[in-house]
Amino acid sequence: MEQDLTALRAVLGECDEEITRALKKRMECIEGIIQYKRRHGMPVLQPEQEKVQLDAVGRMVKDAPFGEEILHIFEGIIENSRKIQAKSLFDRNILLIGFMGAGKSTVAACLGRMLAMETVEMDAYIEAKEGMKISKIFEVYGEEYFRNCESNTLIELRKKDHVVISCGGGVPLRSENVRLMKENGYAVWLTADPKTILSRVKHSTARPLLNGHMNLEYIQELMESRREKYVAAADVIVDTSGKHVMEICEELLQKISGLQERTTRS
Ligand code: S3P
Repeated sequence: MEQDLTALRAVLGECDEEITRALKKRMECIEGIIQYKRRHGMPVLQPEQEKVQLDAVGRMVKDAPFGEEILHIFEGIIENSRKIQAKSLFDRNILLIGFMGAGKSTVAACLGRMLAMETVEMDAYIEAKEGMKISKIFEVYGEEYFRNCESNTLIELRKKDHVVISCGGGVPLRSENVRLMKENGYAVWLTADPKTILSRVKHSTARPLLNGHMNLEYIQELMESRREKYVAAADVIVDTSGKHVMEICEELLQKISGLQERTTRS
């Protein structure tokens, strides 16, 4: 019995060695693919190719014992490759800024999936830390306190690497916040016309600044009063009106890659 267990563990060790060797080879291959795509001007991320690979593994393990588990491991491996590929595109965080209803949360979630990047929703982060909804924070402690929470969150998130941060709409109002954002990230300003904004936020009661002012004139005015701050903060601008979220993400990535290339060249 003792002997058997030792023998089984030895086989396990051999398997791990084989897997490690194969994974090292796979990662080197990914690096080669990135360089090839670069040289030939091809898009680095190709989700359709991921599907081809996963389908191939799916066929190999179909009806096999532990087929589902093996497939699950492969999903992780492929997600990891996506992460490596995404990191090769740019090496900084992405901070989404823009007015309420500009689509920051939706775009952050989509980018997170596309690039296998961690996403942080700043409002949710603050709510969890304070143990209170944003509207309650405004009500109990006032707007200034909430703005301090935003600045502190930026300081805490500075440690993070390669994350998408969906910022609250008021974050770029403080120049100190803009400085913090730019330390290790690209600020992407998502814009939309006031009518689109109203249509997206009109049924929500979660935004204290709009409660009791849910009309086009107020939104237009508030947007206008913030325009200069957003302009000053933005590294990249993407208009979201009338566009599908995938379209927005692709445009955003193209613009960031251009920016990254210019920074690397200079
Ligand atoms: C605010 C935007 C909100 C939230 C708070 C204040 C603002 O975030 O942080 O209600 O000042 O624009 P969203 O832009 O994610 O709605």
